[in-house]
Amino acid sequence: MKPELFQQIKKEYDDFYKILLSKGRLPLRTTGRGFWGHVPTGDIYNAFKQLNLQKHETFLDLGSGDGKVVLIASLFCKRAVGIEMDDELFQKSLEIQKNVGIPNAIFFNNNFYDHGISGFDTVFVYPGEPMYRGLEKKILNELTGKLVHCGHHFHPENLKKQNHCLINGTLFTVYTK
Ligand SMILES: C[S@@+](CC[C@H](N)C(=O)[O-])C[C@H]1O[C@@H](n2cnc3c(N)ncnc32)[C@H](O)[C@@H]1O
Repeated sequence: MKPELFQQIKKEYDDFYKILLSKGRLPLRTTGRGFWGHVPTGDIYNAFKQLNLQKHETFLDLGSGDGKVVLIASLFCKRAVGIEMDDELFQKSLEIQKNVGIPNAIFFNNNFYDHGISGFDTVFVYPGEPMYRGLEKKILNELTGKLVHCGHHFHPENLKKQNHCLINGTLFTVYTK
């Protein structure tokens, strides 16, 4: 779980959010595909520890935003993949990956509906829009591993809840088909 690398990742994101705030921008905005928001870096790391993510080899974040979840997952898994449509957030993911020197993360700058999700041990989603609009159908058709859903909002309606943890008020729920 590489705590030293985690501290480097945390510092990169702390600095990124400070710079945004100093320019009068929030680390939260619409991307044209729902909204981009994020969960504190330490909460993601602690959730992955509690959910034993190290037991899973492959990880995919659908709508990976600024790449934080993927880079943290890469400390636990052999391969972590993120897909994000927003160009600025995608570029930030690559920049921080390079700064920290993480070899086992891959980012794609496109629509996650164009990617298959079968074969991934963990699929992560912090949804920016209700899942009944299309994402839940894709997951029901293609999921072979587990879905980790982040947040109290926009839960799937037809998947089976297996487990959950609450980290500083943020809910992480594990679903299977
Ligand atoms: C709430 S944010 C979550 C970001 C990241 N997963 C995290 O937890 O820090 C949702 C992200 O999904 C992206 N997104 C939504 N629909 C998408 C799609 N069809 N393809 C790619 N990215 C998408 C949005 O641009 C946004 O950055």
